Amino acid sequence: MQDYVVEARGLVRRYGDLVAVDGLDFIVEKGEVYGLIGPNGSGKTTIIKLVCGLLKPHAGSVNVLGMQVPDPNISHQIGYMPQEIAIYPDLTVHDNVRFFGEVYGLSKKEIEKREEELLDFAGLTEKRNALASTLSGGLKHRLSFACTFVHTPKVLLLDEPTVGVDPELRFSFWEYFYDLRKKGVTTIITTHYMDEARKCTRVGLIRQGKMVAEDHPKKLMERTGTDSLEDVFLAFCRGEA
Ligand SMILES: Nc1ncnc2c1ncn2[C@@H]1O[C@H](COP(=O)(O)OP(=O)(O)OP(=O)(O)O)[C@@H](O)[C@H]1O
Ligand SMILES: [Mg+2]
Repeated sequence: MQDYVVEARGLVRRYGDLVAVDGLDFIVEKGEVYGLIGPNGSGKTTIIKLVCGLLKPHAGSVNVLGMQVPDPNISHQIGYMPQEIAIYPDLTVHDNVRFFGEVYGLSKKEIEKREEELLDFAGLTEKRNALASTLSGGLKHRLSFACTFVHTPKVLLLDEPTVGVDPELRFSFWEYFYDLRKKGVTTIITTHYMDEARKCTRVGLIRQGKMVAEDHPKKLMERTGTDSLEDVFLAFCRGEA
């Protein structure tokens, strides 16, 4: 039997009468960069929250690394970057990274090493002692990114991680994801940027809480007879494909 890193079966999640995730099945294999795309309100964030165990499904189940979510042994393996920036505004950049490192049980030395690497990567070294509240929007995103990776997670759940990030750093983020991929890290990422979706190993297109298409980006374009993922997106969202 194949061991999937993420395996969702029959997932349902409602908010009151609204069915946000409607009987969703999907699997993600080790080393994939799996993109979830779909219109605003289609259920992507809800899916990410179900996979990381922040929300309970009303039906169905999610397994991560062979364990059924929620399981305390999974959380340390996951790097979750929420859509809303999750940093502490009253702490400095350094203290934010240190705090997240401590939550994940890293030693002081490990935190120092990771902090140096990640702040350097995110271009935040000079802002190390600045209060997070004083950072620009894009810099807050960079800090949230650094906090997500501090514990070297095996599974990344990234909800629109590059919104508001300048093109150069967006490019670096993607190089970083691909480096991690070579090390066996598995990523699920939501995005509204079709140039990013093109870089995914597979894309799942979500509409009204359902998976309406799933394939390699190139194959999705072949299926719809276009050479643009925007057109694929529009065709599926309008129910034309
Ligand atoms: N806490 C909540 N209470 C009630 N409804 C909610 C809640 N969270 C999400 N919803 C609804 O569930 C649906 C799916 O929302 P979700 O945030 O998962 O979509 P999304 O695909 O991530 O959208 P976006 O692209 O705008 O981030 C939407 O109709 C949304 O209004
Ligand atoms: Mg969302």
